[in-house]
Amino acid sequence: MDRRLVLELVRVTEAAAIACYPMIGRGDGKEADRRAVAAMRAAFDRVPFRGTVVIGEGERDEAPMLYIGERVGPADDELPEVDIAVDPLEGTDLCAGGWPGALAVLAAANRGDLLHCPDTYMEKIATGPAGKGVVHLDAPPEDNVRALASALGRKPSDVTVVVLDRPRHEDLVRRLRGAGARVLLVDDGDVAPAVAAGFEDSGIDMLYGKGGAPEGVLAAAALHCLGGHFEGRLAFRNDEERARAVKMGMADPDALLGLSDLVRGEVIFVATGVTTGSLLRGIRRVGDRLQTHSIALRSTTGTIRYVEGSVRAERFL
Ligand code: FBP
Repeated sequence: MDRRLVLELVRVTEAAAIACYPMIGRGDGKEADRRAVAAMRAAFDRVPFRGTVVIGEGERDEAPMLYIGERVGPADDELPEVDIAVDPLEGTDLCAGGWPGALAVLAAANRGDLLHCPDTYMEKIATGPAGKGVVHLDAPPEDNVRALASALGRKPSDVTVVVLDRPRHEDLVRRLRGAGARVLLVDDGDVAPAVAAGFEDSGIDMLYGKGGAPEGVLAAAALHCLGGHFEGRLAFRNDEERARAVKMGMADPDALLGLSDLVRGEVIFVATGVTTGSLLRGIRRVGDRLQTHSIALRSTTGTIRYVEGSVRAERFL
């Protein structure tokens, strides 16, 4: 994939994040999401590619824009075909409540290189490179804490795990803490901590537990670029979701999914902070400008870029 797409795609997540800025702390997540989706879609029109949304806001009948299968970008047959996974506002409630960690995020890959899966749940485990071949979704949480600690050359008490604060995770949290780990509970948003686990200096060593499947593919795309580790397994709420996964091409929808089952080949991952979190600073108003903070990863070279932007606020508010 053309590396010039990296900055073009940063413009797309910047646009979505900036569109959310007026909605931070307003208590209206739906409107924040609507604005992020509209801004992201419009920004795609200026990216020199023919994009197909493979992970998006849902199926066509439930999502007016950025639905799975939607074509984005200029309609020009000369332009390269690219699959994209998008979450225009990851952490809708975080944005609505003004809580940390909301972001606009997307991943791009060559056609067929991102898993097509329904909008269901996924059991996940994510770490940086140290967890490769060391932690496993099917291993007991206690073993994973001890194995990761040993791979990192630390004590289990020095391992920090992020888990979504949900009743379904009560037992997992008890077992992780029982093994000595420090567990940070977050209200929402499991993409940022999963990606942060890919960075040695983030203070996060592992993301563990059940969250959204689309978010799992996005996190896997970033960890693919960072040389990190990710395993997932779809967790369906009903038979209809399982049937949809089969229809979307998954031979065994209950299979353990390694990183290469979720994402392959040349991948670009970009995200822009909406509210400040473990990975990025949120949008900030400074004088008559809005400042943005984005991350851009490219698997081909392993390059990690942080992009700071400053735009005239009057253009957006
Ligand atoms: P949204 O931005 O779509 O609200 O997702 C936020 C999120 O916290 C994800 O990061 C996470 O994967 C998922 O929701 C968890 O789902 P649930 O809130 O149903 O437990």
